[in-house]
Amino acid sequence: MQNQQVYDELVSKFEAKWGAKPEIVAYAPGRIEVLGNHTDYNEGYVFSAAIDKGTFFAVSKSEGTTCSLTAADLMETVEFDISDVKPVKEMTWANYVLGSFNWLFDGKTADAKYGFKAMFLGNIPLGAGLSSSAALEMCTLLALQKMYGIEKDKTETAKIGQKAEHTFAGCPCGLLDQASSLYGKAGALVKSDFRYNTFENVSLGEGVAFMMVKSNAKHALVDGAYASRRQACEDAAKYFASILRKPVTHLRDVTMAEWVLYRGGLSETTAKRAVHPIGEDERVLQGSELLDKGDLKGFGALMYDSHESSRNWFENSCEELDAIVDAAKAIPEVYGARLSGGGFGGSCCLLVDPTAADKIASQISREYKAQFGDEPECQLINPSDGAHLV
Ligand code: GLA
Repeated sequence: MQNQQVYDELVSKFEAKWGAKPEIVAYAPGRIEVLGNHTDYNEGYVFSAAIDKGTFFAVSKSEGTTCSLTAADLMETVEFDISDVKPVKEMTWANYVLGSFNWLFDGKTADAKYGFKAMFLGNIPLGAGLSSSAALEMCTLLALQKMYGIEKDKTETAKIGQKAEHTFAGCPCGLLDQASSLYGKAGALVKSDFRYNTFENVSLGEGVAFMMVKSNAKHALVDGAYASRRQACEDAAKYFASILRKPVTHLRDVTMAEWVLYRGGLSETTAKRAVHPIGEDERVLQGSELLDKGDLKGFGALMYDSHESSRNWFENSCEELDAIVDAAKAIPEVYGARLSGGGFGGSCCLLVDPTAADKIASQISREYKAQFGDEPECQLINPSDGAHLV
């Protein structure tokens, strides 16, 4: 479904349920991660982009203190009072909205004085690693900020969404997904520096686009694998802080040369985990120079290296994602390919010549099908504008 259709369907379902159009509608896109995997919580660098698919959140004030929230695709509704906002165990999609509302008011939601009637609908494929959850948080926050007259800048807004993930959804994520959804710009990448939380738009150039290839492998970041990777990175940073004669708070502070020299003091697994974000930081910085020179092939080669690092060191890939990247390597119109986001399933992000999109999609689908029996979903993606009120 196109964005306009999603918006129309949402507004008409909202009107059918509450007898009037919503007072406020906000939109927030999903994101692709282009280079820099698991670097955000290590205070490193990432290239990402907001995509042309997202979620719309429609809301009006309610008369009393009750809130009603409907997922328009499922037509499931969760109701709660502003004085009783806590995570739910069923209809867990509501936790992204509940958590966002909760932290927008710093945990004091009774201060909101009145409740809301809300409904949301989106077109980001779920479980694809395209951050549908961050998109829901960001459109919720933009709409509720407007309704309650609360002003927050983009970085503050991203952090509220992140806190909702940590405390209401149980995923100890970094800030990448939320920031990409807010700072995205049409035709450009978002270059993030998560030590200083600075976000810059870098033009991608002409004649190039991304293709997302969604594997059918499960992608769930709340089941412990993401958290254990994050923990290993933090353990490694503590070790390097104890051994290097310079300040180290995160793996951002450790160079590849230092890792090579001192890795012997880490367990084999922790050493493997640590080298991934260290290498990714170097690749993003190198990639930035290549993009400035318009060297898309060079940039794409770094994407392939990034995937190898995921496959061998961080072990957050899987055979389905590896098969997509391997198939991509044989196609000259693909410049680079790698897993995108948390990993363990989800999607690969390919840098492609868009005029060859059909050929690329059919070749990859054919090879994937021969191996796994079903077809991956391939979609051309143009970097798009970030979240906004509609
Ligand atoms: C998920 C998390 C992000 C980031 C990526 C990996 O998308 O939500 O914060 O850590 O994985 O780069």
